[in-house]
Amino acid sequence: MTDHASTLGHIKDVTVLTAALDMAPHLIDWRKRHTGQAECVVFPSTTQAVSEVMAYCHANRIRVFPQGGNTSVCGGSVPDGQGGSIVLNLSRMNRLREINPDDDSMVVDAGCILANVQQAAADVDRLFPLRLGAEGSCQIGGNIATNAGGTAAVRYGVMRDLVLGLEVVLPDGTIIDAIKTVRKDNSGFDLKHLFIGSEGTIGIITGAALKLFARPRGMTTAALAIRDIDTALYIARDLRGALPGEISALELLSDSEMEIVREFRAEGALRMRQAPWYLIVEVGGRSTEAEYRDILETLLMPELESGALTDAILAENERQRGEIWGVRHSVTECNMHAGMGLTHDIAVPIGKLDQYIKQAEAELAEAYPDAVPVVVGHIGDGNLHYIAMFTHEAWAAQTAQEAVRDHVGHMFYDIAVGLGGTFSAEHGVGSIHTGDMERYKSSSSLRMMRDMKAAFDPLGIANPGRMLKFSIDENALGGEIENE
Ligand code: FAD
Ligand code: LAC
Ligand code: ZN
Repeated sequence: MTDHASTLGHIKDVTVLTAALDMAPHLIDWRKRHTGQAECVVFPSTTQAVSEVMAYCHANRIRVFPQGGNTSVCGGSVPDGQGGSIVLNLSRMNRLREINPDDDSMVVDAGCILANVQQAAADVDRLFPLRLGAEGSCQIGGNIATNAGGTAAVRYGVMRDLVLGLEVVLPDGTIIDAIKTVRKDNSGFDLKHLFIGSEGTIGIITGAALKLFARPRGMTTAALAIRDIDTALYIARDLRGALPGEISALELLSDSEMEIVREFRAEGALRMRQAPWYLIVEVGGRSTEAEYRDILETLLMPELESGALTDAILAENERQRGEIWGVRHSVTECNMHAGMGLTHDIAVPIGKLDQYIKQAEAELAEAYPDAVPVVVGHIGDGNLHYIAMFTHEAWAAQTAQEAVRDHVGHMFYDIAVGLGGTFSAEHGVGSIHTGDMERYKSSSSLRMMRDMKAAFDPLGIANPGRMLKFSIDENALGGEIENE
């Protein structure tokens, strides 16, 4: 064991792993695309322990890579290859601190797994609405650090909208206790918003106060098979208009995505007529489940009769709802088996989704006729995961993989940004999009972000190389910040 690992291991409430086999799962991401090195993996179980670990690392200029559930899909959750750093894993900070159904709030440690937080809310007849495919592994701290979106954002907003207060440990070990469950607080800068979406680059989130909601009285889920993209988009728009505030998911899948699920999901895909596009719609609120089924049937019947919809499943029970969501949440894993999917997490104004989809498909076909466009996304938020899928063989045959990756990325991102959108809607920047930050953000925005990073982390020890290119002029610590 190295000196640093040994010293860190002596801090109260800290466990340290140094054996290669023990550390291995923490040095590779969930999709097995990114690997790194570290001197040790450190597991604090209290805020005080996190503070002492950070103070030690600050004093010794040890670079710290925070890690939650390690489900990042943009290389944010594993260290770089330089070594000499530590991974700070939050999973042992997993206590539910308090739950207050009367004021619809709960306070949790950052390492609580999202599914456990959802369950704790359900146990007191409340809803914590963040939902995503990785919910069985990802942690609240990771969700906050990435400002996660997911399938219910169309109704409840993204993680930023669900946080009432935060507890954070700064890179020098200072604890900021801003955990409050009040709904209004205009006493100065609202610091929590600086940390939400900061991807571990300015502090470690150790605890959070979260908003809870009333559970819908009834809800139902439908899967629709649709003849073309314009129809899918107008049906989505009409449903939102007809059921304001009651649509809790509007997910789009291309048939190419469904085909991958058919092939690689053990239980198969949805048993419905094949169509170019599919929508998954969830509605919930004051009506009962049966009433919602009737409402959807009335709204969708004319579309079925006209041939706009070629098939529809209206879930009759929890098992059928689970089956629809099982398909939706299996896509990332199935895509891993299908080949090398170059995934792009773009968002455009909702009214421009049709333009985006048509232009991206045309440009991909022109530049890479071998790649299949695979689309899955949260269209209620204008957010698409637009994937250029290469078979394993086609990808292996690419002699300049990095150049292809960049070229395809720029192609898809240029379209999104040209339409007033973004290259990173919900997954964050991680280690793989720092170049895109330089390309797409204005120099004044980047300058402001670097100034903020310097104010919180002048030594640059917190998640270096993630989110923002940032380097320190060793002769002017805390002063000059250079662009890499
Ligand atoms: P990690 O992956 O461990 O870390 C993510 C980033 O946050 C890293 O930069 C890390 O350093 C930092 N970090 C983690 N914990 C802390 C902390 N306590 N303090 C400071 N920094 C921290 N994302 C969506 O937005 N919507 C989706 O629908 C969605 N679906 C997904 C489905 C699948 C199958 C998978 C594998 C991923 C999906 N993701 C989705 C991406 C990912 O799950 C989210 O980004 C999630 O919020 C990450 O949480 P995590 O705990 O795994 O964090
Ligand atoms: C999803 C992840 C990849 O929506 O964000 O499935
Ligand atoms: Zn998503």
